Amino acid sequence: MDTTDTIDGYATAWQGGVVAEKDALPDWQPLTAELAKRSLAADDPTGWFEPLYAAGRSGSVKMPWERRAASPPLVDALAQMKAEGRTAVVVGCGLGQDAEEVARRGFRTTAFDVSPSAVQIARERRPESAVTYVVADLLDLPAGWRHAFDLVVEIITVQALPPARQPEAAAAVAGLLAPGGDLLVISSARLEPDPIPLQQGPPWPLSRNEVQAFAVAGVRATRVDLVPTPSGSAWLARFTRTAAHT
Ligand SMILES: C[S@@+](CC[C@H](N)C(=O)[O-])C[C@H]1O[C@@H](n2cnc3c(N)ncnc32)[C@H](O)[C@@H]1O
Repeated sequence: MDTTDTIDGYATAWQGGVVAEKDALPDWQPLTAELAKRSLAADDPTGWFEPLYAAGRSGSVKMPWERRAASPPLVDALAQMKAEGRTAVVVGCGLGQDAEEVARRGFRTTAFDVSPSAVQIARERRPESAVTYVVADLLDLPAGWRHAFDLVVEIITVQALPPARQPEAAAAVAGLLAPGGDLLVISSARLEPDPIPLQQGPPWPLSRNEVQAFAVAGVRATRVDLVPTPSGSAWLARFTRTAAHT
């Protein structure tokens, strides 16, 4: 089935292949809109993720952000990297496809998500996994994770947070990066200058300036590419932390 995941602003197929739908479960996107609306009205930027994954787990909707494999741009980036003896963290890891690929390449990998159900599904699917899956909130990270990871992977998590929280979220992602490490950011791109109104998301795709916002406090961009995707365009951006800034 060739499904285009419009809620993320670009195709899930481009991300790694959707999983064939064997049944007639309702799509998860309408529930997303309903849950997110309620959550945002309560000024809770992340409250909608857990009930959404729980609905996927119980089978009342198709599993959100389900895909067959790791994101292809991540796979390409990993092919250029040394993994041995290095640590990695996957932000907003969802069902764990990207984290598993990072670990398979040899990184000592931690992956976290704000949704306990997502983390539980990721663990249950792969009881032998080398990944340490953790429930954690990007907006309130454990202090011990600061500058702790040689590779940081962020794929479409920041764009799933309201625009007003995105600068804080981008800075928190950057804060995970160790001196000399690599940060990979993949996000849907917003080419129009005007911000997306709160009610029109999620997601709220990032402008070029918003992608540049990952370059804070000793972190600098090494490349920011705009690439076409089946349903628009996306940023593939790489950053590093200069060894001098600790
Ligand atoms: C759009 S989904 C993408 C999931 C996965 N990165 C992927 O590419 O398939 C965003 C993910 O980030 C998680 N998330 C959102 N806000 C978060 C936060 N503040 N801290 C940790 N995880 C968060 C959600 O639960 C969800 O799994």
